[in-house]
Amino acid sequence: MSKFLVIGNPISHSLSPPIHNYWFKKYKFINYFYEKKEVNEKDLGKIVDALRKNELKGVNVTVPFKQKIIPYLDGLDFTAKKTHSVNTLLKKNNKVFGFNTDSVGFYSTLSKKHDYETFSNYKFFVIGAGGVTSSIIDGIRESNKIYVTNRTKSKAEDLKKKFPQIEIINWGIKPPVCDIIINTTSVGLTKDQNLKIDFSNYLNNKHALFYDLIYNPKETNFLKNAKLRGNKTMNGQMMFLYQAQASFQLWTDLKPEINDEIIKILD
Ligand code: ATR
Repeated sequence: MSKFLVIGNPISHSLSPPIHNYWFKKYKFINYFYEKKEVNEKDLGKIVDALRKNELKGVNVTVPFKQKIIPYLDGLDFTAKKTHSVNTLLKKNNKVFGFNTDSVGFYSTLSKKHDYETFSNYKFFVIGAGGVTSSIIDGIRESNKIYVTNRTKSKAEDLKKKFPQIEIINWGIKPPVCDIIINTTSVGLTKDQNLKIDFSNYLNNKHALFYDLIYNPKETNFLKNAKLRGNKTMNGQMMFLYQAQASFQLWTDLKPEINDEIIKILD
């Protein structure tokens, strides 16, 4: 039996198990099994040891442990080092490595949509400076303009140390008009929550894309309001699938297909 886990806290909402188990079945990885496990910070060392002892074959790490797992690992890939965020663990040459597939997940989501092939020319407005934000900024690092705003300004300033090209906009200031506006905060996870940002200068802007990393609920108030203004919208579903695809490929050397059936699992 080859066992895989996604660890986080809380974890009950995770859709990683049905996605990976679907692919294991489809590609005939017999006896491969993926499940979720709620853990506490004190358990992180044990999880890494289980990979070292081959009791686990692969692990996904989610909120709030993407940074906290790092001290327990033997090495990091380039993106995990740059973003200081790990979402995939794998044992290679007797060492447990941490990888970041969130960054490529976000990059793929935009670049594979025909109309965003050249998104590097676009201006981005990124809301938030939490655990996942560095992966998003890494995914769009080739853009020539990235604005970031966060309620707690010092966290945006910490991000700027990693990505000097970003420009910080004070929280509450009317945002500049950009092509893609991304919510990386947790505001909207609960249905009635709403970001208090004035987007009135985006009224009837059919070009602007409002992107929410949240995919459950499917349509946050951030996206609902954007639709009402006449903007384009997208939720985090495809990013979630692309990061899962990249993790699966790291573990198995096979790039699984993202098809309608897998999208249905998320619906
Ligand atoms: P995680 O690591 O899980 O992403 P986090 O680091 O606490 O969690 O980040 C959550 C993000 O959502 C942060 O950008 C946070 O803003 P602060 O840095 O000011 O805390 C943002 N966030 C959460 N609740 C918010 C709220 N009510 N209004 C504005 N931003 C909020």
